Amino acid sequence: PIVKEIFGLSNLEERIQKAFGLRKVVIVPGDSEASPLTKKELGRAGAKALLGAMSSQDVVAVTGGSTIAEVAEQLSPPANLSLKQCWFVPARGGLGESLEIQANTIASGMAKRLGAGYRLLHVPDLLGKEAYESLVGDPNIHDIVEMIREARIIIHGIGDAMEMARRRKLESSVVQELQKEGALAESFGYYFDENGVVVHKMLTLGLRLEDIKSTETVIGIAGGKSKAKAILAVLKFGHEDILVIDEAAAEQIVEEI
Ligand code: F6P
Repeated sequence: PIVKEIFGLSNLEERIQKAFGLRKVVIVPGDSEASPLTKKELGRAGAKALLGAMSSQDVVAVTGGSTIAEVAEQLSPPANLSLKQCWFVPARGGLGESLEIQANTIASGMAKRLGAGYRLLHVPDLLGKEAYESLVGDPNIHDIVEMIREARIIIHGIGDAMEMARRRKLESSVVQELQKEGALAESFGYYFDENGVVVHKMLTLGLRLEDIKSTETVIGIAGGKSKAKAILAVLKFGHEDILVIDEAAAEQIVEEI
């Protein structure tokens, strides 16, 4: 499209796509951190990427966060494909987010908009070891966790590690540990360092690292200049297939490749 040429975004898309061997990169103009309109555009582009990847009988695992919530807002049913036999599930248990941006809320919102089904995972964030052990054994929870792990598509947000530690009100000892380990990015409940190495995990139920690695289509959506380092770290982790970001993040990312 002409607009993309004017902003030189197609060129940026191609550079990032090649550098990380991605299937597809979409960059929206502007900075979604500074402009709510750009964030809407990011959500719209994310919705388009998700629908483009879906077929008629998919399980889609979704994470929480304000960006993925915006994707849900922008979804409407495609004209030429019925998604009635698709399922939306949260990628993991609640991760201490406020209700509107929790994965359960977003998964059910997406399903309702598309006429698909959904299943929810009602487990609290930051489980203690004992609670974790007993929940893992619960048959209902076991079923939904199995379904999550078999998702063909994952759509997820990416955050700055320290920002997410604050948002989740992690204890200061954990924050210090994260700092010491060089945590830069957070996604799927995992914390990554600048090389994309997982340095910290949260004890919650749902997607495990090995599931992410074997999922057919992983779609990451994030924007804002301040998230560039975090996005780069997750790209280095190396399991992204489709990336939807904004110009502000993209400009910083290409400087590092
Ligand atoms: O907590 C869910 C989550 O997807 C995190 O994994 C991610 O770091 C964050 O939300 C992104 O949130 P936002 O889109 O609001 O920046």
